[in-house]
This record gives sequence, C-alpha cells and structure tokens, in this order.
Amino acid sequence: MAERSVFVEVEGLHKAYGEIRAVDGISFTIKSGEIFALLGPNGAGKTTTIKVLSTLIAPDAGDARIGGLDIRGDIMEIKRLSGTVPQETAVYDDLNASEHLRFFGRAYGMSATEIGRREKELLEVTGLEERKRDKVSTYSGGMKRRLNIACALMHSPRFVMLDEPTVGVDPQARERIFDMVRDLRDQGIAILYTTHYMEEAEFLSDRIAIMDYGKIIAEGTMAEIVSIAGEGEVVELEVDAFTEPLREKIMKIEGVLGVEGERPIKVTCESAGRILSHIITAVSDSGSLVKHIEVKTPSLEDVFIKLTGRSLRE
Ligand SMILES: Nc1ncnc2c1ncn2[C@@H]1O[C@H](COP(=O)(O)OP(=O)(O)O)[C@@H](O)[C@H]1O
Ligand SMILES: [Mg+2]
Repeated sequence: MAERSVFVEVEGLHKAYGEIRAVDGISFTIKSGEIFALLGPNGAGKTTTIKVLSTLIAPDAGDARIGGLDIRGDIMEIKRLSGTVPQETAVYDDLNASEHLRFFGRAYGMSATEIGRREKELLEVTGLEERKRDKVSTYSGGMKRRLNIACALMHSPRFVMLDEPTVGVDPQARERIFDMVRDLRDQGIAILYTTHYMEEAEFLSDRIAIMDYGKIIAEGTMAEIVSIAGEGEVVELEVDAFTEPLREKIMKIEGVLGVEGERPIKVTCESAGRILSHIITAVSDSGSLVKHIEVKTPSLEDVFIKLTGRSLRE
C-alpha cells in the first residue's frame, strides 16, 4: 500500500528574472501517492517552479525539501529522488527509444541488469516496445512525449514533475499520458503536474493550486477552491409566473445567498442539495409552476475570473 506522507515541501519560494517576479513566494506540499496540479496561464511561473525544484536554477529565497532533503544541499541525492519531464520535449532524432532509456540508466549509475529490467518495463507502459529500434525521427509527437516521460522515470524517482505534458499531443496520446500519471500515483509517487487546461487539473489531480503572476491565489481540492472563491452553487429555474412575493419567499430560504434575474431566476446558495425542495415548495405555494430547474456548479474558470478578474483562456 502506498504511504501518504508529505514528500515535497515548498515554503516561501522566490525567483526573479530582473524585474519579473517569476515565482513570488509560493508554498505548497505534495504527498506520496498524490497528484498536485499547478494550474495557471502562460507566464504564471509554472516552469520556473519546476526548474527550481529540479535544481536547474537556484531560488532567490525560500525553502524546498524533497524527501526531507534541502534542494540547496545534496544535489545528486535530490536528482536521484526526482524525475522531470520538461515542457520542451528533449529527445534525439538519431537515437531510438532503447538507446534513450539506456543512456539515462547509465547516467544515473544503474547496473546493466537494472537498466534492462527497467527499459522493458517502461517500453511496455509507454506502448513503445514495437518501435524501440526505430529512430525517434520517425515517431509522432505523442510518441516523443511518452519517450520523454519514460526517460524521466528510468531511475524510478519518488517525485515526478511533468511540465504541461499534453500540449501538442493528440487526444489518444493524451489519454495514455493520463493513465501513466495515474499509475505513478498508484505506485505511491508524489506528482507535480503543470497545466493551463482547467479540465485536466479538475479531473486528473487530487489537489490544485491556481497560479498567477508568480503567486498561488487558491489551493485545495476542487471543492475547497470553489469555496475559497466564495463561489456558491447556482440554481437556475424558470417558472410560469414570477412575482415579487415569490422572490422574497426564495430569499428567506435558509442557505440562499441571493436571487437574481427572472428568466431564468438565478438563486445563489451554499449548497443546492439543501434548498431545492424548499424552492419548489415556495413556487407551488405562490400558485406558480416550475417549468425548468438546473443546478450549476462553478468551474475553475469561474473561480479564476472571480479571483483575478480575467479569463484563464486567452
Ligand atoms: N530565462 C528567463 N529570463 C527572463 N524571464 C523569464 C525567463 N524564464 C521565464 N521568464 C519570465 O518569468 C515569468 C514566468 O515564466 P514561466 O515560469 O515560464 O511561466 P509558465 O511556465 O507558467 O508559462 C514570465 O513572465 C516569463 O516571461
Ligand atoms: Mg511553462
């Protein structure tokens, strides 16, 4: 059974490029066996965060520990514990998949037996077994991506960072990447997954941090983030005759935060489940009929707009 203890701790991390505060005091933790998504638009600071945690660049301030080790300390040991799939696919056209994996295995000082075993395993999970002797120049974008991921996993890291791994790959390859990421989680690996796709963050990750201009502006499970934004659920309903007394009746229902509009009437509330029957009763008591009723749960997009005043989609 995978342990669920904190494996990655980031505290008050800062990294600036001149005037640009790429990472501006972020803090978060990731447990073993957890997918933590960093969701943010272009320029939010996602890649910079990954570069710092991969020890490629040094932070200006703040702390980060991986498996209890300071990232400024034993860099070799940190590199052994973690694997990074960079945003830009880094594979060599003239080499085949096998050669890539063996190269990474040797670079990590793995034994020949270990390299052989791990190579076989990874070719299988990435679906590259049949093409392992073909040069990478003949691969599709999705295959290159999968190989890139396999290279980062060769030394069996316990913390894996994936920087927008589905950008530019077809839907089928995307599904395959999701399956690989979920598999890693089930093996008890801590995962940092960056994306600018809300849907990915929402259905792939256990926890989400929304990042914007170097800062984390909301963090938690999907439900927690929605409540952080103070964004309740909305019940939309249409009735055959809307009257002022009905509006007042609905306002008085416990848990109702606001009533707006007429067609449809939008009732904002903490939890739709608790007020639905009361709304229907109020409507029929006022001699009207419910023609349509629908519950709208806020999306991450709604939350992002609420918190930043801007849309996540550019
Ligand atoms: N090497 C660099 N030199 C100067 N500015 C940089 C460099 N790398 C990133 N930046 C800037 O830092 C900010 C964060 O970038 P980045 O971490 O790449 O964001 P994201 O990965 O979320 O798109 C952006 O404003 C970007 O232009
Ligand atoms: Mg990036």
